[in-house]
Amino acid sequence: MTSFPTVELTVYPYECDAFGHLNQASLLALLERARWDALARGPGMDLFDRNGVWPAARKAVIEYKAGVYPRDVVRVETAVAHRGTTSMTLRHVVRRISDDVVVAEAEIVFVCVDRLGRATPFPEEIGRFLGPRTSGAHQPLHVPAGDAALAVDVRGEGLPVLFVHGFPFDRTMWRHQVAALSRWKRIAPDLRGAGASTAPAPPADGYSLARHADDLVAVLDALGISQAAVCGLSMGGYVLFELLRRHPQRVRAVILADTRPDADSAEAKRGRDELAALAERAGQEAVIGRLLARLLAPATRATQPEIVEQVRDMARRWSVPAIVAAVRAMRDRPDSTDVLRGLRVPALVLVGEDDEVSPPPVAAAMAKLIPGAEFHSIPVAGHLAPLEQPLAASRLLSDFLGRL
Ligand code: MLT
Repeated sequence: MTSFPTVELTVYPYECDAFGHLNQASLLALLERARWDALARGPGMDLFDRNGVWPAARKAVIEYKAGVYPRDVVRVETAVAHRGTTSMTLRHVVRRISDDVVVAEAEIVFVCVDRLGRATPFPEEIGRFLGPRTSGAHQPLHVPAGDAALAVDVRGEGLPVLFVHGFPFDRTMWRHQVAALSRWKRIAPDLRGAGASTAPAPPADGYSLARHADDLVAVLDALGISQAAVCGLSMGGYVLFELLRRHPQRVRAVILADTRPDADSAEAKRGRDELAALAERAGQEAVIGRLLARLLAPATRATQPEIVEQVRDMARRWSVPAIVAAVRAMRDRPDSTDVLRGLRVPALVLVGEDDEVSPPPVAAAMAKLIPGAEFHSIPVAGHLAPLEQPLAASRLLSDFLGRL
């Protein structure tokens, strides 16, 4: 991981609120000062000047961990946590020097823009400085699950939260939640066939959702975890329904994001067969081309090119047989409304307001099936609400998890 020079800064009285506490806006400004200092000491500023581009901040996820007061001196460590073609995520860790306590952690997403403010790929010279493109900040563990080896991000301590991605995504779709929810043990696997997991030859009817559910149990077993809160997005939700059918004792709480409980209609099944045929005929790119417009909110597509890029990247990491296997498994999935009616653990249902695949009315009706479930719809988000609106989604998750 590329690191920037570490910078030490003093907290000024005018940066603090009425209680003498470094306020939120000032923490952001302090991080900006740290980046500015690091770049000014170089290399950095000169590289951007020479290449006529600039990293523009687009999104910040901040975890405030401890109070900071005037005269405290803090050390800001900065490293490139993720690097794509036009975007990068910097991770800041802010420590108070006097007692070495981490007072805040932040992940800030930047898009490389030209002088007209248009997103543009990082020029080669800057790319070399930032380091190679990454698919995530940390090296995943490789956990055996039957005949597959699953790549799994595991971070932090506390109540385990297992994040299950949808199709055609991978564990990196949870990168904001994995970064931000630092009070819990976050576990984000790539399902077999996705991301950096292996893709053993699927049977003719696809990797069944039951197979994926058993794989998740193998992950929990490998980590010595008896129960986890499980958060599934879309197909990840379908896998969670199987987990509830097959291994209910492993589920401490349920978070259903952008998913639905019903089986495919006859028309939806025909659509699945067409998509599988398209994948076999024309490859991943054709599948992405077909799906992309339905996956992200119009506003996301218009204003967050780095997310469009990430979705393309995730889909490209699926092999064609894995795509076909997932599509067939989704086509053949059973109705899960009874599973939800019988649920006796805390449940949270989230949906992007512009989700076309599992629209808000479907998600709201699903929440009504589950005794005591909470329901929230997230504005300006489509089918990938946790990635499109990470702050809102992480806040809802953290409120829910905090009450368990
Ligand atoms: C997903 O996001 O996992 C899929 O779009 C779900 C589906 O097609 O039913």
